[in-house]
Amino acid sequence: MKSGWFRHERAASCSGFARPLPHQGSLKALATGTKAPFIDAVCGVSFEIRKGETLALVGESGSGKSTIARTIIGLQRAVSGSISFDGQEIEELSGAERKPYLRRIAMMFQDPIGSLSPRLTVRSLLTEPFRIHGLKDRDAGSEAERLLRMVGLPADFVRRYPHQLSGGQARRVGIARALALDPDLIIADEPTAGLDVSVQGEVLNLLARLQDELGMAILIITHNLNVVRHMTDRMAIMYLGRFIEVGSTERIFEHPRHPYTEALLAANPEPDPDAVLNRIELKGEVPSLLRRPSGCEFHTRCRYAQDICHRVFPEPLASPDDTEHSFRCHFPLEGEAVQREQELLFPVEEGI
Ligand SMILES: Nc1ncnc2c1ncn2[C@@H]1O[C@H](COP(=O)(O)OP(=O)(O)OP(=O)(O)O)[C@@H](O)[C@H]1O
Ligand code: SF4
Ligand SMILES: [Mg+2]
Repeated sequence: MKSGWFRHERAASCSGFARPLPHQGSLKALATGTKAPFIDAVCGVSFEIRKGETLALVGESGSGKSTIARTIIGLQRAVSGSISFDGQEIEELSGAERKPYLRRIAMMFQDPIGSLSPRLTVRSLLTEPFRIHGLKDRDAGSEAERLLRMVGLPADFVRRYPHQLSGGQARRVGIARALALDPDLIIADEPTAGLDVSVQGEVLNLLARLQDELGMAILIITHNLNVVRHMTDRMAIMYLGRFIEVGSTERIFEHPRHPYTEALLAANPEPDPDAVLNRIELKGEVPSLLRRPSGCEFHTRCRYAQDICHRVFPEPLASPDDTEHSFRCHFPLEGEAVQREQELLFPVEEGI
């Protein structure tokens, strides 16, 4: 594995990177006399984010994207595996020891208004990170105005409460708050969700401009493949809590190797109204995390599935001409046709 500035190491076993989540409450477990069973929401995932780059996490609802984000910032602890930041292993640190590292990572949560405490003014929201991290020397008033200026909001917004903000304004406040401690990494969970198309563009342009000016890395979680295509350097596609394809965004859009990626890209709305869409319909429901399918977990919906796919879990493979492009499939796509010649491929030791 390459030395990464920010890195997740895959857990040795596949039992997980993120702590398995109880799928029933402990009260119910107590009442029924059962032990609360757990699900592996994220499993066997390994990746790095390089300084200043933008990495996208893509996948259907419930595939584990936000779980990864929450685990990075310590809202959930990983059951196994490791998370390192700028060379320091942070997963094993106590809460207080983690604080200096977490200060360098900022999170924009999925719900722009809901993630802002309704009782706090914008000024308090923007300066809360200083209080949490004990930076008492900062002048709250001028810091709040500076941050509002950075995201293009008027200074008098400091007196507003979240319910007085539109979705786009709340998102800008969320970005301003994320910038408060001058982070090296911003995790943006669905930064455009719930916003009008024109406001989505404004928010994305703002994020891109700030990244140019400040040089932070961005981990962007989104369903919007047009955002992925235009904003990110690399992308990872998730299915049932695993990475099934990882690589440069340009390459994956041009040449997806995993059938699930192919279907996702084919379903993406094309900005050109005259473009001919070759939609690939994904049949079947997303399987339950409680009953993961045997073999390749995508076989229940894959139009290329063969007998081996039902039985054998595919190990990661990489393209011979681009070892950063890896995928988990016994029969990765080769151009228009399905390539079934395994000798053209070689196994990847790490990275998916
Ligand atoms: N606290 C929890 N208790 C039980 N299951 C949970 C909990 N949080 C998440 N899950 C489950 O873990 C899986 C991954 O959830 P996660 O929120 O990471 O998905 P996601 O990819 O971010 O989805 P979305 O695109 O809808 O935001 C889902 O099946 C979800 O139902
Ligand atoms: S391993 Fe088989 S079922 Fe899985 S994605 Fe590849 S072709 Fe489809
Ligand atoms: Mg989510």
